[in-house]
Amino acid sequence: MAARLRDWHRDSGRHDLPWQRQGPYATWVSEIMLQQTQVAVVIPYYLRFMESFPSVTALAEAPQDQVLAHWAGLGYYARARNLHQAAQQIVSLFDGEIPQSLDSLMTLKGIGRSTAGAIRSLGWGLRGVIQDGNVRRVLARLHAIAGDLQTSSQQHVLWELAEYYTPALGEHAATHTQAMMDLGATVCKRTHPRCSDCPFHADCQAHQQGLTDYLPTPKKVKKRPSVEWFVLGLRDINNRIWCYPQA
Ligand code: ADE
Repeated sequence: MAARLRDWHRDSGRHDLPWQRQGPYATWVSEIMLQQTQVAVVIPYYLRFMESFPSVTALAEAPQDQVLAHWAGLGYYARARNLHQAAQQIVSLFDGEIPQSLDSLMTLKGIGRSTAGAIRSLGWGLRGVIQDGNVRRVLARLHAIAGDLQTSSQQHVLWELAEYYTPALGEHAATHTQAMMDLGATVCKRTHPRCSDCPFHADCQAHQQGLTDYLPTPKKVKKRPSVEWFVLGLRDINNRIWCYPQA
């Protein structure tokens, strides 16, 4: 299946993203930006960021407000603060060199198991297993896994499957990871998946059973609690508004 995926990627995958084949630093920065943010939005931010902070050391030495200024508009600013702190960790603990081992990568701020797998495979060309939303959808459909994918038992199953499909010796590591992401993003889409273009359509349990519209099971929308607020306004005889600063 990995070979079929690779053939599909050669002909139909994404090959021109600016962070591809640029090494582990570029992979890391792009992966953090791509969490919760689409490729088209990320590209201009990524290019500006890399121009201002071309290396781990440059990022580590930059003042935090300069790093945050490059993030303005991308949202989820904890990502930028973590990236900056992790760069400082890399300088102080790893001699400025992005580590290769899963365990070391996962000691860095903001890097979880999947981002570590992406840095290993896309950045270093080593075996690395990923598990983002796109990959989860591919695996859940391939094996017709229903129910909440966030539970720890389902997470366990999905990681086992992702491990299973990743070539054991790290052959074609970067291509495999990019291909899994691209398959999920462009073919095995959440709505209107293009099953006839999928290299796995003959193996896909969801496709065979006519379940692609129902899998993965949609997340339950969390009911937001409603909160009542009372605001006291105080106006003096000169019509000045006095605000009491919050503690
Ligand atoms: N989303 C997360 N990582 C990605 C990558 N390397 N390419 C495209 N989209 C992604």
